Amino acid sequence: MTTTPRSSDPSVGPGEREWDGGLRPETLEDFVGQPQLRDQLEIFLEAAKKRGEPLDHVLLVGPPGLGKTTLAGILAREMGGDARITSGPVIERPGDLAGILTNLEDQEVLFIDEIHRLNRVVEEYIYPAMEDFRLDIVLDKGPGARSIRLHLSRFTLIGATTRAGMLTSPLRSRFGFVGRVDFYPPEDLCRIVTRSAEILEVELTPDGAEEIAKRARGTPRIANRLLRRVRDWALVRGDGRIDRSAASAALDLLSVDDKGLDDMDLRILGCILDKFGGGPVGLNSIAAAVGEEAETIEEIYEPYLVKEGYLERTPRGRVATEHAEAHLGRSRRRPRPAAEQRPLFESGSS
Ligand SMILES: Nc1ncnc2c1ncn2[C@@H]1O[C@H](COP(=O)(O)OP(=O)(O)OP(=O)(O)O)[C@@H](O)[C@H]1O
Ligand SMILES: [Mg+2]
Repeated sequence: MTTTPRSSDPSVGPGEREWDGGLRPETLEDFVGQPQLRDQLEIFLEAAKKRGEPLDHVLLVGPPGLGKTTLAGILAREMGGDARITSGPVIERPGDLAGILTNLEDQEVLFIDEIHRLNRVVEEYIYPAMEDFRLDIVLDKGPGARSIRLHLSRFTLIGATTRAGMLTSPLRSRFGFVGRVDFYPPEDLCRIVTRSAEILEVELTPDGAEEIAKRARGTPRIANRLLRRVRDWALVRGDGRIDRSAASAALDLLSVDDKGLDDMDLRILGCILDKFGGGPVGLNSIAAAVGEEAETIEEIYEPYLVKEGYLERTPRGRVATEHAEAHLGRSRRRPRPAAEQRPLFESGSS
């Protein structure tokens, strides 16, 4: 395992949290793109403020690196505070949850990242907390068991998940608002890297921004990461300025191609085309063939490949599209039907 993340891995890399901090938009105004979601949230916030009520619980859904945590922070700030941040796998027992919830104040925002990874026992306790702001804790076991009821402040839960399908429906139905963040078009990514370059005081030309945006897999986190890598390149090999040719030379060196696909993307598509006749092929077979975990392929690589039309998910498995064939410049190798493979003359038969 290497410690440097693939340049096009949308999850947070080591040491990136601090670096990313200064670039994270703090107001809805600075939050680029996602116009529909932003409009919805604006109205939702305004209404809650007018009524003087806490914000209804919000679920944010979408692939990694598209701004879910950023939005949670913005919503909390709009409601006048910071979000308390935790994540699904960290809350192991109902007691952990009780500790967090009883410390919240009115209108405070609790952000639970990776909420699909909450365990089921804890989840049962969250329902009444979300609905009626109460928590019934069972003390002791067996016939002597008693329960005490804790009354909670009127908090807002913001949950984020990259895997909406893994959320149980009782949990999902308790959110008053479900917001979906989608991959960003290149124009929005262009605005994002331009803004980041200003903050980082890097000279970035419009065509340099365009080049980075084009290769950022629709993902702001990747766009900012590529900007950082290109900045290094420009410092060492260029004159510090990032224009199209600097950006494209730096990104070529990082093996990010002109559509934003990297080595692993190409390996996944190549393997489906070459080894499995273009598919359909099961996820696990692909994982074994490219030497990557199935879950990682599903969560990190596939969403963008599907979105860009290189890959289809069908009930029978994954299929590489004609678009993938064209991009890789090779055609699917159809395994020959069994009848064709049988030798015409059986040897040894006399
Ligand atoms: N709409 C946006 N405008 C400007 N910058 C953005 C936007 N969305 C995200 N970013 C940048 O991308 C970074 C990653 O976003 P964020 O951490 O919110 O993603 P996420 O959806 O929570 O990812 P994960 O699923 O991995 O937790 C942010 O720190 C910020 O710099
Ligand atoms: Mg996040």
